[in-house]
Amino acid sequence: MSTPTTRAVINVDLGGPVINRHLYGHFAEHLGRCIYGGFWVGEDSELPNVGGIRTDVVEALRALNIPNLRWPGGCFADEYHWQDGIGPRQDRPIMVNTHWGNVEENNHFGTHEFMALCELLGADPYVNGNVGSGTVREMSEWVEYLTRDGDSPMVRQRKANGREKAWRVPFWGIGNEAWGCGGNMRPEAYADEARRFATFLRDHGDNKLYRIAAGANDDNLAWTEALMKAVSCLGCGNKPRGFFQGISFHYYTHDGDGIHRSHATDFDDTQYYRTMIKAADIDRVIKAHRAVMDSYDPAGVVGLVCDEWGTWWQVDEGTNPGFLQQQNTLRDALVAGLHFDIFHSHAERLIMANIAQTVNVLQSMILTDDQGGLVLTPTYHVFEMNKGHQDAASLAVHQPGGPATIDVDGTALAQVTASASRKGDTVLISAGNLSLDSGTMIDFDLRGGSVSAARGRILTADRPQAHNTVAEPTAVAPVELEVRVTDGHLIADLPPHSFATIEVDLAS
Ligand code: AHR
Repeated sequence: MSTPTTRAVINVDLGGPVINRHLYGHFAEHLGRCIYGGFWVGEDSELPNVGGIRTDVVEALRALNIPNLRWPGGCFADEYHWQDGIGPRQDRPIMVNTHWGNVEENNHFGTHEFMALCELLGADPYVNGNVGSGTVREMSEWVEYLTRDGDSPMVRQRKANGREKAWRVPFWGIGNEAWGCGGNMRPEAYADEARRFATFLRDHGDNKLYRIAAGANDDNLAWTEALMKAVSCLGCGNKPRGFFQGISFHYYTHDGDGIHRSHATDFDDTQYYRTMIKAADIDRVIKAHRAVMDSYDPAGVVGLVCDEWGTWWQVDEGTNPGFLQQQNTLRDALVAGLHFDIFHSHAERLIMANIAQTVNVLQSMILTDDQGGLVLTPTYHVFEMNKGHQDAASLAVHQPGGPATIDVDGTALAQVTASASRKGDTVLISAGNLSLDSGTMIDFDLRGGSVSAARGRILTADRPQAHNTVAEPTAVAPVELEVRVTDGHLIADLPPHSFATIEVDLAS
């Protein structure tokens, strides 16, 4: 039997909206082993570090061109008081991280350490302030401490702590999940709080803050509408008022709630396909939020930000349930590839996304141990293979007649999803085959330019449960994919459960 073919047409001369590089953003919370034991080992550690930050973690992440890093939470942000995390480390107070494992937090990783981490990574800081248990003054002073030059009470304090120059902080979150751990507020009450807090989040000097209001969970459209009403009005035609510039939402992928979530590495075919259905459904959720935003802000001034996304499984055996530590398989990588295809298609309104979380928590890029072991996860490889999409012009990928589909509990899952972009004379195409048992031959017809060379890479394994460990770090790692170029067509074999990228040079 011959392999079925997946045909698509890509017009390389018809560039669409630019894929904001911030769609490849990250998230690091004081949660489990993300900060402590992940990024931060302390200056006295035997593991190589720069000022306490683990060197091999930074090196691995630099290869992803991480555009921004969100910190310090999540739920933690709404109980974090930034003044506890500055000054000599031995004098910093200990607090209890009540959200995550009820463990003591010694505040050794604070504002200066976070800014140093961003500098090492080459990433823009995205600081999330405390609305739930903090004050307007506290948040306003944090912005002043970070971003003001000249002389002021906060500037003097920063200089006394060893930092002369102001930092640049482009992104600021006004609380987190205000409908839940951030204060259990109702949408209108939070919308007013967001306006009040935002009023005192000043632009100091030439630092311009992009303020992001804490948004909905999944498809809670009432929340988005309350926030849009707080900055604009239906049909009044004026530009939204600039209290905040972005609105977030969170979307996690799993195949059931609570204890019904599958195990990170031990799952069956049904659980695999239900995961893909849930991951694909973020398209409907983004469209729904966009529709609300379009009706209040047709010019698209307010940005949509998905500042927490990723898979959420049962925790690894023997770990603190509050640490959310999980392995990461080829299934996770395919979820990431699918999300990026969808994110690219919403490039017009979706300006940022942050995977939860970068190291040792939920769908991480990197797993570490205290002996110096470091594992790059399959998800890491998708971020690396896809990095050429950052700030490239999106290109539509048309599958004539629609993609072949897989029936999952009565819902159709597209077998092959793809997206493409162009930067200069280079086109990058990403494609995932989500079927567990059917390979396909892709035949992508590139029109509007002539192909001079094509290089392919593929990420797959003999089963979707495959994952990397310290003992076997490259069980899932990209290898070369053979791509044939014939009359502007790119032809390649995509085996079951695989993700591939093809980089194409166009003749200029
Ligand atoms: O990423 C883990 C947690 O999930 C975050 O702290 C919270 O915002 C969300 O519920």
